[in-house]
Amino acid sequence: MTETEQERFPFGENWLNFLNVLSDEHIVEAERSLRAFLGDYDLKGKRFLDIGSGSGLHSLAARKMGADVVSFDYDPQSVACTKELKSRYFPNDEIWKVNPGSILERSFIESLGEFDVAYAWGVLHHTGVLWQALYNAQIPVRQGGLLFVAIYNDQGIISSLWKIVKRFYCSGWFGRMLMSMIFYPIFFLSGLLIDLIHLQNPATRYREHKKYRGMSLLHDWRDWLGGYPFEPAEPGRIINFYKNLGFELVHLQPTGHGFGNNQFLFRRVK
Ligand SMILES: C[S@@+](CC[C@H](N)C(=O)[O-])C[C@H]1O[C@@H](n2cnc3c(N)ncnc32)[C@H](O)[C@@H]1O
Repeated sequence: MTETEQERFPFGENWLNFLNVLSDEHIVEAERSLRAFLGDYDLKGKRFLDIGSGSGLHSLAARKMGADVVSFDYDPQSVACTKELKSRYFPNDEIWKVNPGSILERSFIESLGEFDVAYAWGVLHHTGVLWQALYNAQIPVRQGGLLFVAIYNDQGIISSLWKIVKRFYCSGWFGRMLMSMIFYPIFFLSGLLIDLIHLQNPATRYREHKKYRGMSLLHDWRDWLGGYPFEPAEPGRIINFYKNLGFELVHLQPTGHGFGNNQFLFRRVK
């Protein structure tokens, strides 16, 4: 199924909603997460492409770290959200550009030029054409440049079941309501259980979650439940795919709990 078809999660709507809770703490955390994954790589003066920028939070983090940023997203509301963040923190800034666009449109990607860093976090598995999107994401990476991608881990039958849930969620108001009524209490109770096992104060979970890339727990739940199209992949397949295209793996952070994103940092060596 391609993204032009009907069943598609309105990511941008969720991101616009996220802007209501966005605080300086989220921004600091987004910067910290970028720094942690890029290691000692200095973004100052580097061209940074944010593919599927969503809220725009990581574009903002990269811009604050001194990068020359281009952000784009397929969803008009995600684009509006990224533009809103830009106008809040970098109004009239010529060095940060925000465009509508799809990673699946090769001519659009080629028109953007070369980048030192291409960043596609949690995006390519939502296009409906994962391997085409993975291919297009590396096109703008210059020789010696970095490609940072995060892709949902393939858990076999469990991922297939999640795909059914997500598709049903996106089928209309009934699917959305039913899946929310079933899964939000499960998410809440499993979170509570984890907190109790680790003897933490359950109330902190909602505040602590922003330590994960500056995100918000409730918005991430909605993104997870509805995020369709959904095409997870095993890490080995991603690594081989990019090796064959002349990239070396610099850093891999597997998802800690089976579901969620594996994070990869590659460098173009050929
Ligand atoms: C889960 S969000 C991730 C947003 C952001 N990268 C982050 O790390 O928070 C996925 C984003 O990918 C965007 N997206 C989906 N298909 C796309 C495509 N073909 N081209 C560009 N962006 C796309 C969605 O609109 C959404 O904003």
